[in-house]
Amino acid sequence: MYRSHNCGELRASHINEEVTLAGWVQKSRDKGFIVWVDLRDRYGITQLVFDEERTSKTLIEQAQNLGREFVIQVTGKVIERASKNPNIPTGDIEILVSELTILNEAKLPPFTIEDKTDGGEDLRMKYRYLDIRRNPVKNSLIFRHKVTQEVRNYLSNEGFIEVETPYLIKSTPEGARDFVVPSRMNEGQFYALPQSPQTFKQLLMVGGMDKYFQIVKCFRDEDLRADRQPEFTQIDCEMAFIEQEDILNAFEGLTRHLLKEINGVEIDKFPRMLYDDAMRKYGNDKPDIRFGMEFGELNEVAQHKDFNVFNSAELVVGIAVPGGNTYTRKEIDKLIDWVKRPQVGALGMVYCRCNDDGSFKSSVDKFYDQDDLAKWAEATGAKPGDLICMLSGDTNKVRTQLSALRMELAERLGLRKSDEFAPLWVMDFPLLEWDEDTERYHAMHHPFTSPKPGQLDLLKTDPGAVKANAYDLVLNGNEIGGGSIRIHDKETQALMFDYLGFTEEEAKAQFGFLMDAFQYGAPPHGGLAFGLDRLVAILGGQETIRDFIAFPKNNNGRDVMIDAPAPIDEEQLKELNLKLNLQS
Ligand code: AMO
Repeated sequence: MYRSHNCGELRASHINEEVTLAGWVQKSRDKGFIVWVDLRDRYGITQLVFDEERTSKTLIEQAQNLGREFVIQVTGKVIERASKNPNIPTGDIEILVSELTILNEAKLPPFTIEDKTDGGEDLRMKYRYLDIRRNPVKNSLIFRHKVTQEVRNYLSNEGFIEVETPYLIKSTPEGARDFVVPSRMNEGQFYALPQSPQTFKQLLMVGGMDKYFQIVKCFRDEDLRADRQPEFTQIDCEMAFIEQEDILNAFEGLTRHLLKEINGVEIDKFPRMLYDDAMRKYGNDKPDIRFGMEFGELNEVAQHKDFNVFNSAELVVGIAVPGGNTYTRKEIDKLIDWVKRPQVGALGMVYCRCNDDGSFKSSVDKFYDQDDLAKWAEATGAKPGDLICMLSGDTNKVRTQLSALRMELAERLGLRKSDEFAPLWVMDFPLLEWDEDTERYHAMHHPFTSPKPGQLDLLKTDPGAVKANAYDLVLNGNEIGGGSIRIHDKETQALMFDYLGFTEEEAKAQFGFLMDAFQYGAPPHGGLAFGLDRLVAILGGQETIRDFIAFPKNNNGRDVMIDAPAPIDEEQLKELNLKLNLQS
């Protein structure tokens, strides 16, 4: 037996017991005749004491030679500590060691294994197994386990069945590029790794499974950000014989359960917002509604004066920054530089100070009088003491820019509180989205999403205006889930592929199996998938998902610990019938 207790377990009630512990040496203090060692494992830290008088001289010498992160086993008596440490649960006791075994020595770690480490991101990723020994990472993984377990229990109790679907499949269009796997046995042919189990879960509905879920890895070759990894995990769900309302209720129930069990937060009914309203009020399809700062559209009150920048714009729109009138001229100039950065891309920013006495002072006073400015304040909800920030230009672009500014200012003003939770359903997404690069429409969610009833004909005349039975679940400004009611008949699905620019042959080659299945009694069905990594990160009060993944990839999609991706040898390439054609 390696241990009788773990390092987080012993209390004053154990005093005088003989115990055996095992773990890693966190640090030691050597006073010559007495040595203290902090012994760490997953459960906590226990102080060991080696004392010349009370134990032996050889034991002290052994203890003096222990290095950081050595793996040791000790046996000794639990005694009361002379100076107690109220900061740790084992702080009342220490172990007077009588036996010490070094189970394994350790090289000096490249960074300190402490909550606040001196290791930079790259170094910690290279030695992720050491990083995992640190509380912040370890606790995030334990937190993730807790959330995952709650999800499994909740859905199982609601009658959902977890079914595994294959990883070696054919392309599933979710809007990113596929990772592909060459097939040795089928020369010149490739599997694609699933971007999601979308088609399989629909086939499970045709198969009569009724309520399915799966906690499943998905793979997407797309540009990475703080909330995106090339491989990530979904809580993927599908239900048959349901309407949109049933789906919303089912997964609102799951989210409400998690908020209560994990965060102790009770939220009644989740608000719902139409996609069009989200774009108009927040310039964003995943608005953070923990704070206000809603957009005020200002065309009516800011155009038709002599200010040509506004007159020529499709949209003039502003937000009121609470307390922003205290900003100095220099601070405002910096804000203007911020919106002009290429990442945001605004051409400039007009501002208007709302003075405490009710008067206004704008950066374009030449063109607007106090009455005009009062109308700006009214439209943006600005109060005395606020600052109105205004952008103008093409509607879509300017909304995105102002949304970025809104989020940045909220962050600076401390309005994005990590212990506050504001879920929101965003509903009725457009069915299609215009893609500038390929100059054609793409399915905004995916091509299996059904249009709103009665809107199929609109596809011919005004495709961009067609709305879908599609919804996203947003939490604190992050899209944590998305889904839709699906098309479940062959004709409509064929029509959809046609509108999306697939020829009949292409649609058959790629999705013939699904359309075939639809001929054998497909029930009405729909579903949703949560991004588990995002959900866990947000419930954990953060937005970077990397911290909640045991072995994440860096921003170049690399695992720097195992050094992947990596070339494969000639022999393997030959077996796969692949030839590299690298341009030097
Ligand atoms: P969607 O593409 O919206 O829908 O994905 C569902 C959720 O997965 C999360 N997500 C990601 N998380 C981390 N890294 C990524 N690269 C990444 N991409 C997506 C998001 C997102 O809301 N099959 C459909 C679901 C359905 O219709 O039922 C789907 O995959 O939180």
